[in-house]
Amino acid sequence: MKKRLLEKHKLLETNVVLLCVLILITVSIGGLVQIVPLFTIEGTIEKVEGMRPYSPLELAGGNIYIREGCYLCHSQMIRPFRDEYERYGHYSLAAESMYDHPFQWGSKRTGPDLARVGGKYSNEWHAVHLIDPRSVVPESIMPPYAFLARKDLAFDDAAEHLRTLRVVGVPYTDAQIGKAAEDLKTQAVGDEDKAEELLARYPKAPLGDFDGDPSRITELDALIAYLQMRGNLVDFTAFDPESARR
Ligand code: HEC
Repeated sequence: MKKRLLEKHKLLETNVVLLCVLILITVSIGGLVQIVPLFTIEGTIEKVEGMRPYSPLELAGGNIYIREGCYLCHSQMIRPFRDEYERYGHYSLAAESMYDHPFQWGSKRTGPDLARVGGKYSNEWHAVHLIDPRSVVPESIMPPYAFLARKDLAFDDAAEHLRTLRVVGVPYTDAQIGKAAEDLKTQAVGDEDKAEELLARYPKAPLGDFDGDPSRITELDALIAYLQMRGNLVDFTAFDPESARR
């Protein structure tokens, strides 16, 4: 019996064409298992109230988050387990990262999950924590990012960022693209006069001078605006997991 099996295997090992054909079949099965579910992507991402494309300032902050590698220590994906949602809140929905390019789920939690950090702390806390983590959390091993407060945010290309994301499917309108740089300034300085217009384009956008220095728009402003938005967009009072799938 064992010998017969070995004989058959010998056939495989000595016949390159047969080996290639069988490898191809095996690999295609694996490929199909991964690809086929994506054809039902409409049903994979649940319908929710409140999710919207990121404002130009939040987007700039997200880019700094990626540039600085925050995802190496922080995930943004709350799993549907009791210990997770008791600590972090409602489990993450696919819809909540549908405008992330690339998504920030992460695979490492040296620090806590940040999917719902928005509104958990004040802007002042974030500024102090990012400049010197140990001044507010003495046992913290998070590195300081004080230089972000010294660097002016470069945002001449804000409109281009939005336009590029539109190419990959984020539904930015022409008005949002046209006003990108202006919206970014309105949000970063907390300009009350233009707030209404900004909030019409980006509901629930956190407004204000985030880093405590109203005279400049820094990278720290953008990063804090991004953090304060995380997890705050979807309206969970209107979310019903059963009907969202239909
Ligand atoms: C070397 C790992 C590491 C890196 C890199 C890192 N962090 Fe952290 N972070 C931590 C740890 C550990 C904590 C928990 C202690 C503390 O609050 O400082 C933390 C806490 C936080 C908190 C508070 C979360 C809460 O719910 O209390 C925020 C916000 C945060 N980090 C943001 C960032 C951002 C933004 C970046 C990138 C600019 C970043 N972190 C990079 C390790 C890291």
